[in-house]
Amino acid sequence: MPAMLRTSPPARPWWERPGLDAPHGRLRVAGHDLAPIAAAIGTPCFVYDLDRVVENAERFAAALRGTGIPFRLRFALKANPFPDLLAVLRGIAAPGRPGAVGIDACSPGEVKHALTHGWLPDEISFTGTNLSGRDLDVLLAAGPIRLNLDAVSQVERVGLRAPGRAIGLRVNPGAGAGYHEGLAYAGERPTKFGIWPDRIDDAVTAARRNGLTITSLHFHAGSGWLADGLGAFETALVRAVEIARRLLNAGCPIDELNVGGGLGVPARAEEQAVPLDAYAALLARHVGPLGITVACEPGDYLVKDSAVLLGEVVTVEGRGGTTFVGLDLGWNVNCMYFIYRYAQEIVPVIAPDAARTSTVTVAGNINEAGDVFAQHYPMAPVAEGDLVAILNAGGYEQAMQSTHCLRPPAAAVFLRRAETPVR
Ligand SMILES: Cc1ncc(COP(=O)(O)O)c(C=O)c1O
Repeated sequence: MPAMLRTSPPARPWWERPGLDAPHGRLRVAGHDLAPIAAAIGTPCFVYDLDRVVENAERFAAALRGTGIPFRLRFALKANPFPDLLAVLRGIAAPGRPGAVGIDACSPGEVKHALTHGWLPDEISFTGTNLSGRDLDVLLAAGPIRLNLDAVSQVERVGLRAPGRAIGLRVNPGAGAGYHEGLAYAGERPTKFGIWPDRIDDAVTAARRNGLTITSLHFHAGSGWLADGLGAFETALVRAVEIARRLLNAGCPIDELNVGGGLGVPARAEEQAVPLDAYAALLARHVGPLGITVACEPGDYLVKDSAVLLGEVVTVEGRGGTTFVGLDLGWNVNCMYFIYRYAQEIVPVIAPDAARTSTVTVAGNINEAGDVFAQHYPMAPVAEGDLVAILNAGGYEQAMQSTHCLRPPAAAVFLRRAETPVR
């Protein structure tokens, strides 16, 4: 019998998803071929698929809605404050309508920015750190925003300025979660965030003395945690719920437990995203019995995979046994590895799913040895002049750009998918 010729479909790259694909060996964002975009605009350049932001927000909200518990979804503005993206988030639903996404702000500037871009004060939750008196003056003038205070001394100072106001407490529940230990913002290792459990009574006393009412409790376990971090998040959640119960029993009319953000976005085939239904089920199981609203304030989860960052390969050279691939951008444009040690996935724009036959260090154009994006990195072979895309570039990259070494920030293009209905 003649051998059957069977052509099984080629394995899809792990990162392919609606809005990011390479149907003819050419990488596309939101259905737009990236090579002509780079030719027209130059590199480095962020290219966004705004519909991905909507998908992410709607998926997140749907998981919470499925549990039946009351919830609020807010976007951590620090991840991406750019007007095109905010307009799309705001466009999901008008203030007060089901599905409307609120804002988590962390500075007076972010509160003003949210108000300017169409959010109402009562859709904004503020959780900052090391606030000056000047910061407090601006925040207290901003209207009925939720104000989570993260130090006993802040409670005292707000009490002096605005007796009678409603406040929230940001606590460190004594457990945290993160992409790695350094990204756990709570836990036994002291971090600069939150009131520790042994100071909560002091915070309540300070609030009472100053006529403040504690109506919300907040914690943020840390950032970038993935499926294997859900257990650590649950530990932090359980402890926060115990604190909320303590406060309720002490007569504080807590109506919201804010569980922060922190859900990470996979950057490698072997990384697994947090299963949203399991996350939502944890919230329902632990917060549900309190009969209060659960608030979530993800940043990266909503925007990280909505963009790629385009760069040009300007160097391919061996040095001491290591092949360095140099790009025309540096950590001033993408500090995700430099600062946070987040893994970066870097693919050629032409033939992005080519076999990864090289092991390289991908480095930037800033005069610092640490200005690298990936080390010991299995990558498809590239040559000088090639275009590459750094995936997952929508969160904390454009937002954190600097002009260090007088390297200019990257350009940005915000795209909708061709088939997007007008909202
Ligand atoms: C208080 C607070 N909430 C929310 C976030 C958003 O975190 P992520 O972007 O990891 O979801 C952060 C990030 O640092 C934060 O500090």
